[in-house]
Amino acid sequence: MSVTIKSAKEIELMRESGRLLGIVHRELEKAIKPGISTKEIDRLGEQLIRSMGCVPNFLNYNGYPASICVSVNDEVVHGIPSKHRILQEGDIVSLDAGLIYKGYHSDAARTHAVGAIAPEAQKLIDVTRQSFFEGIKFAKAGCYLFDISRAIWEYAHSFGYGVVEDLVGHGIGTHLHEDPQIPNFPQRRKGIKLMPGMTLAIEPMINAGRPDVAWLDDDWTVVTEDGSLSAHYENTVLITEGEPELLTLYEER
Ligand code: MF3
Ligand code: CO
Repeated sequence: MSVTIKSAKEIELMRESGRLLGIVHRELEKAIKPGISTKEIDRLGEQLIRSMGCVPNFLNYNGYPASICVSVNDEVVHGIPSKHRILQEGDIVSLDAGLIYKGYHSDAARTHAVGAIAPEAQKLIDVTRQSFFEGIKFAKAGCYLFDISRAIWEYAHSFGYGVVEDLVGHGIGTHLHEDPQIPNFPQRRKGIKLMPGMTLAIEPMINAGRPDVAWLDDDWTVVTEDGSLSAHYENTVLITEGEPELLTLYEER
């Protein structure tokens, strides 16, 4: 499959898909507090998505058994919600969510603090988010894809953090995962030239320690090999001639 350029009509649908997902994330954030189970977060997310007339795109994707990926502390991504996993004060929790609106997918992730957390944990969350914004300085027509990859890595690495290399961002549209793959670390090649109408899910996953990851026996949950904390930040982004449009970032309006 090659990289798709969305038409004006498709861009409108991607915008609405993203706007709705931004609202889902805003609502999920409000629910994060000590005592909630990761299963309750998933149920709330699925209900919200369905109440919008949309479909959770992660549910049953390659057999993934839930609508929201909920990854706690040293879990990097793809944590499976469980009624036995209760969030505790001091935890950090990454929520990855996606939905389909009229056939168009959106995908976004955030890491949140559960109650009061250690300053080092907050710094990891903040640097991970900022690494995305450093990356998207190059998310515009005329730049090359791997400019984004390099900028993310350089920023996060400058804090001594480990940038996960085993998982990547991706194009998105009528499928959750479209070309191109978007690594979060430097490549020897430049990658494709970015063009208006491309929609990309850019998603740095950053570990406080080493970049290496492992998979739990459930074959989904990705954890840091060294047990260090990990954070995730992702938006679905529209490439334009000028500044990128962040389709999944909720804004008061
Ligand atoms: N946001 C993730 C991704 O981009 C989550 C999808 S994995 C799933 O790949 F299986 F849970 F859907
Ligand atoms: Co994604």
